[in-house]
Amino acid sequence: MDLEKARAFAGQVAQERVGASLSLLNYVGDVLGLWRAMAGAGAVTSAELAERTGLAERYVHEWLAGQAVAGHVVHEDGRFTLPDEHAAVLADDESPFAQAGGLEVGAAMWLAADRIAEAFRTGGGVGWHEHDPRLFRGVSRFFAPLYRLSLVPQWLPALDGVVDRLVAGARVLDMGCGYGTSTILMAQAYPASRFEGIDSHAASVEAAWAAANEAEVQDRVCFHVGEATEDMAGPWDLICFFDALHDMGDPVAAAARARQALTPDGTVLVVEPYASDRLEDRIGNPIAMSYYTASTFLCVPNSLSQDSGLALGAQAGESRMIKLLGDAGFSRVRLALTTDYNLIFEARP
Ligand SMILES: C[S@@+](CC[C@H](N)C(=O)[O-])C[C@H]1O[C@@H](n2cnc3c(N)ncnc32)[C@H](O)[C@@H]1O
Repeated sequence: MDLEKARAFAGQVAQERVGASLSLLNYVGDVLGLWRAMAGAGAVTSAELAERTGLAERYVHEWLAGQAVAGHVVHEDGRFTLPDEHAAVLADDESPFAQAGGLEVGAAMWLAADRIAEAFRTGGGVGWHEHDPRLFRGVSRFFAPLYRLSLVPQWLPALDGVVDRLVAGARVLDMGCGYGTSTILMAQAYPASRFEGIDSHAASVEAAWAAANEAEVQDRVCFHVGEATEDMAGPWDLICFFDALHDMGDPVAAAARARQALTPDGTVLVVEPYASDRLEDRIGNPIAMSYYTASTFLCVPNSLSQDSGLALGAQAGESRMIKLLGDAGFSRVRLALTTDYNLIFEARP
């Protein structure tokens, strides 16, 4: 054994443990509103922050001290400041840098860890609906900044002729819509079009309705509980799968169903997490590390819980996705756009 190598690896694993511990501290800050209370508040003492949040001072002090050693807050003369730049990451869901939703997803994955371990033993699935509700809200909070920055400005314009049709008035289906963030963003941008979101998870559909009412787009958006391989009655000009196709038990059947439900010149948009065809090309990449964790805990188990259970996983890569869409009957399939985080595919009949 090379002792130097062992020491270096021990350091790497220790660092990963530190990241996990700090995520716990950060998560509690989100749940208790500590980040939001500190945002823009200047330098506060632990007593002032405890008073403002209605929490026990001794706990708040320990939390602040931990955040200070981590460099998340600045400590000076017994007072603690959350810099505006850090508030944009932890205290503001509307910010392009927002990450608090990811902490909630992490909490849900820890809660599921023993159950997932058991699934490794049996080979069985764990359905999306079986997870802690933190997962559903966390995923929606986590993706929202990315969708706000990318969907209307980048992804839709990368598709052939789709924006013109949306402006003129198109029928759009968002399959596996979750909390409806993507559906609502499109509805806000293209008021002449009509949008429907479908998801097999009833609680998410309920949350999507509430979000649509809050955004005041309920005149052109509706949501239903449904199953991708069955409930796509069209015809639709555009069918979207945002980070959802690989989660399905049979993504080929779901895509084939979408192909049938399209208008003759319609488009299917498939947004998938970024992945390479070759595992070798992703070694050491932090985004791939987090995608493989989510795939192991969420995507593969969900797919295995459904009929067919093909378990494509969230890291299928360009070649497999293009083949899948070809197998589903699309004759024109292309990778329309690649970003650091996503692969954006266009499929046409
Ligand atoms: C990772 S979440 C993405 C949600 C949403 N598209 C977003 O980007 O926030 C995957 C979603 O696919 C839904 N889903 C999984 N299998 C499905 C199926 N067979 N039919 C319909 N929806 C499904 C899940 O309930 C979940 O809401």
